[in-house]
Amino acid sequence: METQSTQPQRRSVSSLSLIEGEESVTEVVLRAMARTEDVRLRTVVASLVSHLHDFLREVRPSDEEFEQGLAFIAALGHATHATNNEVVLAADVLGLSTLVTTMNNSTQDGRTPGALLGPFYRPNAPRYQCGDCVVQDDSPGLPLFVSGTVRTTDGTVLPNAMVEIWQASPIGLYDNQDPRQPDRNLRGMFHADAEGNYHFRTVRPAGYPVPIDGPVGKLLAAQHRHPYRPAHIHFIVAAPGHRTLVTQVFADDSEILESDVTFGVHRQLVGAFQLVETGPGPWGDLQAPFYTLQFDFTLEPGEQTFPTPPID
Ligand code: DHB
Ligand code: FE
Repeated sequence: METQSTQPQRRSVSSLSLIEGEESVTEVVLRAMARTEDVRLRTVVASLVSHLHDFLREVRPSDEEFEQGLAFIAALGHATHATNNEVVLAADVLGLSTLVTTMNNSTQDGRTPGALLGPFYRPNAPRYQCGDCVVQDDSPGLPLFVSGTVRTTDGTVLPNAMVEIWQASPIGLYDNQDPRQPDRNLRGMFHADAEGNYHFRTVRPAGYPVPIDGPVGKLLAAQHRHPYRPAHIHFIVAAPGHRTLVTQVFADDSEILESDVTFGVHRQLVGAFQLVETGPGPWGDLQAPFYTLQFDFTLEPGEQTFPTPPID
């Protein structure tokens, strides 16, 4: 009596898209994505997959470690809400944001380096005349007189260039973080004169910590890193026919210039904050003590655009 085989017929396996060994995983995944029509998307995701796979082959995580890594990324999302973007913060403390900013802001031809816009840029800064003061309360910090010239890369001045600034208070808080400050305190928009010169008065800012109540704070603690940024003033400098400059100027006497938690301190962005102990201020009727800061900006010819404020 003939017995029929109960074994299902084996198909012969010749497909290139089955997994066989570590290296094959990357090849199979890349092949699965090869039909992406958007060329940039195809290139970027293929590179991302290749580098992530190489990263995993290098660190060889256990299953538990892989779960911990994914849980860290999920926690970034959970800690993100209207007033805190933990994903951006993670990119900042890993140096990713500063790397991209540095790649996208060449310092050729004397151009001023760029720096992060940061999470505290707000729209509708008060409009001021040059020489005005951006301090709207009786803040106890030392006054700071800021002045400089805006130029293009061939050295000619940019008349009427727009200079917008924002900064933290002498206790290290932006207006929107501090209910005791008037709305849009320590923010202002100015226009340079016909010779490209701007000047305004403010108060010396203090350094401040990034938020440490989320997963990024835990990472910083594990790395024995402090969460502070050195004292700085944010600037947006713009002129028609020029690429808008988003940058920050740091106080040269800050003790943590070399350990900015977001790696923002470009050598050329350290400004000379000079303490003047006697005599009158450079304008207005203020007497010493005060600080002065002289800082010039050089923009490159290009398209004038404006950054989107991350908050209202
Ligand atoms: C700034 C603050 C941050 O918390 C950050 O991650 C990046 C920049 C800033 O305001 O300078
Ligand atoms: Fe800042």
